[in-house]
Amino acid sequence: MAASTKISSIFRPNLFKGKVAIVTGGGTGIGQAITQELLFLGCKVMIASRNMERLSESAESMKLQIKPNSAAQLEHMQCNIRKEEQVKDLISTTVKKFGKLDFLVNNGGGQFPSPAADIRLKGWNAVIETNLTGTFLCCREAYNQWMKENGGVIINIIADMWRGFPSMSHTGAARAGVDNLTKTMAIEWADKGVRVNAVAPGSSIYSDTAAANYGSPDVFDASIPYSPAKRLGRVEEVSASVLFLLSPAASFISGETVKVDAGSSLYANMWTIPDHKKSIPYTWATDDTGDNDDGSSSSSSTKSKL
Ligand code: ADE
Repeated sequence: MAASTKISSIFRPNLFKGKVAIVTGGGTGIGQAITQELLFLGCKVMIASRNMERLSESAESMKLQIKPNSAAQLEHMQCNIRKEEQVKDLISTTVKKFGKLDFLVNNGGGQFPSPAADIRLKGWNAVIETNLTGTFLCCREAYNQWMKENGGVIINIIADMWRGFPSMSHTGAARAGVDNLTKTMAIEWADKGVRVNAVAPGSSIYSDTAAANYGSPDVFDASIPYSPAKRLGRVEEVSASVLFLLSPAASFISGETVKVDAGSSLYANMWTIPDHKKSIPYTWATDDTGDNDDGSSSSSSTKSKL
């Protein structure tokens, strides 16, 4: 995955000089944007993914962007976050290679669109294991192997699942689980100097990887009227929030989830429910006065729709 846009940052140069980060799924989409911005600001980054070919290609492309005099370094390794031993290895290898671990960004994940009724157990389990269990394993190992003794910051990337997630029930359930896990870990690990937060990108954050997953960029175009911003979001806009939460500017923020969705989750929803007459009518008491509680009257046409 070639690194595209010219890299830049709103944050000051060298903000993360001397810091070490792991970004899972750091070779594509939002993860790649986070990795590029961390590198731009002098961080040493280990990116990890299940798909080694795509990861290597992306890593080579991002390495070319590192300025010769920069403290930044990039390493990559294969890791299936569903496999406990591989997660243990990811953390220990990173600590061995870079000598420490300041930041963990849990961005790696995956899902496939399907109505809940059609999801087989194998597919359900795969999505829960990747997005919920995989995130848990990465957090637990980063904490036990390094952050318990040395402090650190963890960011979990979740999703816009606040009103349920029609056609993505598995990932909605998993991401809601990670939202709660974030709060629990923020409290349990506070006394060790570990902050844990989440970032929830809206569904209108465009990336080539996401477009390829959906099979078409048209899904993104169709989402524009549903966004209060009336435009698509950029992966760089998610990255900026992640880096803010990693930075000392967020030193008093933990257990929080930042939505990066331009307010979409408060506004319209692309999901439509077909017209139907399946809602069981209210029949177990009668009130035919026509009066509302506030003393006004409902019209008979309105009443016929009750
Ligand atoms: N990205 C998607 N699925 C993954 C997995 N199981 N491990 C690491 N990165 C992933």
